Amino acid sequence: MTAQFPVARPRRLRRTPAMRRMVAGTRLHPAELVLPLFVKEGIDRPSPIASMPGVFQHTRDSLRKAAHEAAEAGVGGLILFGIPAVKDARGSAADDPDGIVQQAVADLVSEVGDTMVVMTDTCLDEFTDHGHCGILTPDGEVDNDATLERYAAAAVAQARAGSQFIAPSGMMDGQVAAIRAALDAEGFQQVPIMAYSVKYASAFYGPFRDAAECAPQFGDRSAYQQDAAGPIGEALREVRLDLAEGADAVMVKPALAYLDILRQVRDTVDVPVAAYQVSGEYAMVEAAAANGWIDRDRVIMESLTAIRRAGADTILTYWATEVARKLR
Ligand code: PBG
Repeated sequence: MTAQFPVARPRRLRRTPAMRRMVAGTRLHPAELVLPLFVKEGIDRPSPIASMPGVFQHTRDSLRKAAHEAAEAGVGGLILFGIPAVKDARGSAADDPDGIVQQAVADLVSEVGDTMVVMTDTCLDEFTDHGHCGILTPDGEVDNDATLERYAAAAVAQARAGSQFIAPSGMMDGQVAAIRAALDAEGFQQVPIMAYSVKYASAFYGPFRDAAECAPQFGDRSAYQQDAAGPIGEALREVRLDLAEGADAVMVKPALAYLDILRQVRDTVDVPVAAYQVSGEYAMVEAAAANGWIDRDRVIMESLTAIRRAGADTILTYWATEVARKLR
C-alpha cells in the first residue's frame, strides 16, 4: 500500500499561472500608485539625476508631459517637489505665489487635475540655503515653532495654486495642526492632509538629496526625523498625534526597511495608509539591475507587492508610470 502522506499539499494551488492568479491575496492597481515628480526653476531642458537613472528634474513643459503619461497609464496621483532658482535661510520660495511649485501645481492641475490627484510635498528643505527642513536658531538648531508658521504659509500657497492634497514631510511637532488651521482660515477646508507621520532619518534618502538639491549643509536630520532604533511605540504615537491634529491619511517612509511599522500602522488606524518607496530603494534596484545582478522587473513587482501586503493602501514610487502600464 502506498503512503498517504503528505495529507496537505499547498503546491496544488501554485501549479499554474491561472490558479495562482485566481487565489492571489495581494493585488496591485495603478490607481493606488503615486508618482513623485521634480520640477526645477530656470532650466530649459529636463536634467537627468545621476543617482536615479530614468528620473529627471523637469522643466515646466516636460513636467506636464510626464504627468500626462502617468495619467494615461492610470496612475492615481502625483506628488510634486520643486527646486527654486534662489534659496535663502527662511525658504522664501516655498510660499511665494510665483514660486516654482505654485506655478507647476497650476500647470499640473490644468493638465491632469480631473483624472488624478495632484499632491504637494510641504517642507522647507528644497527652499533653504542651509538645506534643513526649517528655520534655524542662532546656534543652528531647527526651531520647531518658527518653522510651523513657514509650513502653514507654504501649504496655503500650494492650496491657492490648486494643490489637491497637502503632504507635510518636515517632522516638526504640531505641523499638521498648524497647517490645518491655516488652510481652514483661508477657505481650504476641503483640501486634505496626508501626513508623513512616520518618517525615519534614513540613509535611503541619499539620491533624493541630489534630485531636490537639498542635502543639509551641516549636520543631519536626526534631531527631527525618527531614529530607526527609536522607542518601540514611537511610530504609533506620531500617527495618533497627526490624526488628532486632523490628518486625513498617514504615511510611512521609507517603505521596504520599515514593513513591520507599516503593518502596525495599518492595523491601528482607520484612515488610508501610504508608504513611500524612496529614492535609495529605487537606486539600489536600478544599480544592481544595470550590473546584471538582479532581474529588475521582477524585483520591482516583488517589492511593490511586499509593500502592499504589509498594508499600504497607496504607494509612492518612482516607477509608478512604468508599473501602471504593466498592470493594465
Ligand atoms: C523632505 C523629503 C525628503 C524626501 C521626501 N520629502 C528628504 C529628506 O527628508 O531628507 C525623500 C524622498 C526620497 O528619498 O525618495 N522634503
